Amino acid sequence: MPNNISPQYDLLDETLNAYRAADRPVNNQYLYNAVAQRAHLTDEITQNCQPIGKSGSQRNVYHRQLRWHQQTLRDMGMLKRIPGKRGVWELTDKAKRGLHPIRRPLSLVAFSTDLGVACWGYSQDVFGQWPSNEPIMLALTSPPYPLASSRRYGNPSASEMVGFILDILAPIVERMAPEASLILNLSEDIFLPQLPARSTYLERVIIALEDQLGLSLMDRIPWVNRSKPPGPLRYASITRQQLNVSWEPILWFARDPKRCKADNRRVLTPHSERQQRLIDQGGEKRTAVYGDGAYRLSPGAYANPTAGAIPKNTLEFGHSCAVGRKHRKLCQQHGLPTHGAGMPYRLPEFFIKFLTEEGDLVADSCGGRLMTARAAQSLNRAWVTTECMAEYIAGGSLLFEEEKGFARSAAFEALLHSVA
Ligand SMILES: C[S@@+](CC[C@H](N)C(=O)[O-])C[C@H]1O[C@@H](n2cnc3c(N)ncnc32)[C@H](O)[C@@H]1O
Repeated sequence: MPNNISPQYDLLDETLNAYRAADRPVNNQYLYNAVAQRAHLTDEITQNCQPIGKSGSQRNVYHRQLRWHQQTLRDMGMLKRIPGKRGVWELTDKAKRGLHPIRRPLSLVAFSTDLGVACWGYSQDVFGQWPSNEPIMLALTSPPYPLASSRRYGNPSASEMVGFILDILAPIVERMAPEASLILNLSEDIFLPQLPARSTYLERVIIALEDQLGLSLMDRIPWVNRSKPPGPLRYASITRQQLNVSWEPILWFARDPKRCKADNRRVLTPHSERQQRLIDQGGEKRTAVYGDGAYRLSPGAYANPTAGAIPKNTLEFGHSCAVGRKHRKLCQQHGLPTHGAGMPYRLPEFFIKFLTEEGDLVADSCGGRLMTARAAQSLNRAWVTTECMAEYIAGGSLLFEEEKGFARSAAFEALLHSVA
C-alpha cells in the first residue's frame, strides 16, 4: 500500500518521474505500470472501475487520473505526444533538464523593477539581511505543502512542517510593521500514513506562529476551488470514506490585531440585484424577529446606500487565470519549466488590496511563478520576493519585462546561460 496517494497532485510527480526514468517515448500501458510500481499501488487501486459521465459506463479511475496528469504536464510544456502514435508520449527537452537551486547561503538579485526586487535565494538567507528600516506590510506566501510524494522542487514532511515554516517566517515576522499581516496558503489535504484521516499539522502551525512568533490568528479563509482535480483518489473513489476535495485554507495572521491595516472598503463587491433593489425601495418593509430575538428586522433597515457589499470570508475561484496562462506561454517560448503549484492572480490581488495601501511593501518568501510580486507591481505596491530555483525565478521574470525600470542582473543572466 502507498503511504498516501491522497493529495490531488500526488501522482503528478510520479507521472513525470516515470517518463524521466523511461527516457524514451512510451505508451499509456507502460505509464500505468510504471507509476503503479513507483508509487507501490495495489491492484485494488489500479483496477478500480467506476461509472463515469452521463452514460455511466465503467471506467478505470486510476487510468483516468494519469491521463489527467498527462494533460497537465502537456499544458506545463513538460510532455509531448508522438504524432501518429496513439497514447504514446515523451518528455520535452525542457523537462529533461532539472531545476537548479542556489547553493546556500549565497543569494543574488535576479531582476528588479521600479517597485520591487526578486532574489534567487533561500528566503531565510535573504530576509535575514533585509534592512529593518524597510518594514514589510504584508507577507503573502504559499510554502511547499507537506505532500507524501514530493513535488519537483521538494517539500518537508508533515512532522517537519512547523520547524520549516518557523525557519522561513521568523526573519520576515521580525521585519513586519506593527500594522502588518501574514497570509499563508497551505493544504488541508494531508493524510496520515495509510489512513483516511487528515494530519493536524495546520493546527500545530497556527499554535507555533502564535506562541513562538507572537502572531494573532485573524481568520481561516477557505479558498474554494471547484476545478481541483478529483481526489483523494483512494479514499474518495475507492474506499468511499472521504469526499472529493475542493478548498484550501488561507490563514491570516496579524502582528498586532488592534493596529492591523485591513480595510474591507478596499475590497467591496457590487451589491446583488436584490440588495440594490432593497436599498432603492427605502429598505425593509417588514418587521420580524429571528433566532430567539438575536436578529430583528424593522422597516427602513438596509436603506442606506453604500459603496458595495462587504465580502464574505470565503474566496471562490479556480486555479487557472490569465496571468498564469501568459506565464506558461512565455516559459514555453523561452524553454523554461512552468510551475506545478502556482496560485491564481486573484488570490494575492485580493489580499494585497485588503491588507495594504499603495506604496506599502509586500513580501513573498516562496515565489514560484512570482504571482504575489506580479499582483503587488500591478497594484502599485513595493515588493520583494525570493525563490530558491533559478528556472522559476527566470520564468517569473518574463512577466515583468514591460515594467518600468525592469532589469535582469548581469550575474543572473550569466548564471542562467551556464546552466542552460
Ligand atoms: C507552492 S510553491 C509557491 C507558488 C507561488 N505562490 C505561485 O503562485 O507561483 C513554493 C515555492 O517555494 C520555493 N521554495 C521552497 N522553499 C524555499 C525557501 N526556503 N526559500 C525560497 N524559496 C523556496 C519552491 O522552489 C517553490 O517554487
